[in-house]
Amino acid sequence: MAMTGFEKLFVNHQKKGDRNIEIVRNRLNSLNIQNIHDVLEIGCGIGTLSAFLSSEYGMSIYGTDFDPKQIRIARELYGENDHLHFRVEDAANLTFEDASFDLVVSQDVFHHIAAWPQAICEIARVLRLEGHFIWVDMVFPSVITKLFKPLVKAYGLYTFDEIWFEFWDNGFEERVHERQIHGPFAYHHFVLQKACSITQS
Ligand SMILES: C[S@@+](CC[C@H](N)C(=O)[O-])C[C@H]1O[C@@H](n2cnc3c(N)ncnc32)[C@H](O)[C@@H]1O
Repeated sequence: MAMTGFEKLFVNHQKKGDRNIEIVRNRLNSLNIQNIHDVLEIGCGIGTLSAFLSSEYGMSIYGTDFDPKQIRIARELYGENDHLHFRVEDAANLTFEDASFDLVVSQDVFHHIAAWPQAICEIARVLRLEGHFIWVDMVFPSVITKLFKPLVKAYGLYTFDEIWFEFWDNGFEERVHERQIHGPFAYHHFVLQKACSITQS
């Protein structure tokens, strides 16, 4: 779901972009960067991380977001070239071909996606075998998901066990996992690897 103007005040701030870059830079340290050429960012917002990955590492990036206004700002701020494209996409219904990317990055996006299990399935589809998925977001206590799921239809509400099951069910194996606490919610950093292809029935 697209963010409100109020949410964008915080999310589109330069400090948030700097923090995103720092987190992903640290996570990339666990990977062999030489093998990463084609990258998809899900929910790129105003594109700060995508632009950084393209300029710093020479990776070929698609920064994608559901919200056309965010994509418009990303294009204005960073422009586009052979290695950097911004595109409106729904994470739960990606238009990319199967096995198009070596790395998918999603930071603070899944709690905005009502159809988050479908988004994991789509990410597994567009990743190449042995490709990586950097996932950073909060998870919710089960009491919160039980109480609010019937009421909150437009957001992603999931427990740790629920999201972990979907990763596993879509052929992902955990390479790095770090749990941090931010207020009442646990915040998780995952580096996952697509270990096998799942044939969709
Ligand atoms: C909290 S912001 C995070 C933006 C950026 N990743 C960051 O960390 O600064 C969530 C972003 O996810 C996007 N989004 C929400 N639902 C989406 C969907 N179904 N597919 C792709 N992007 C989505 C929103 O438009 C918004 O830009």
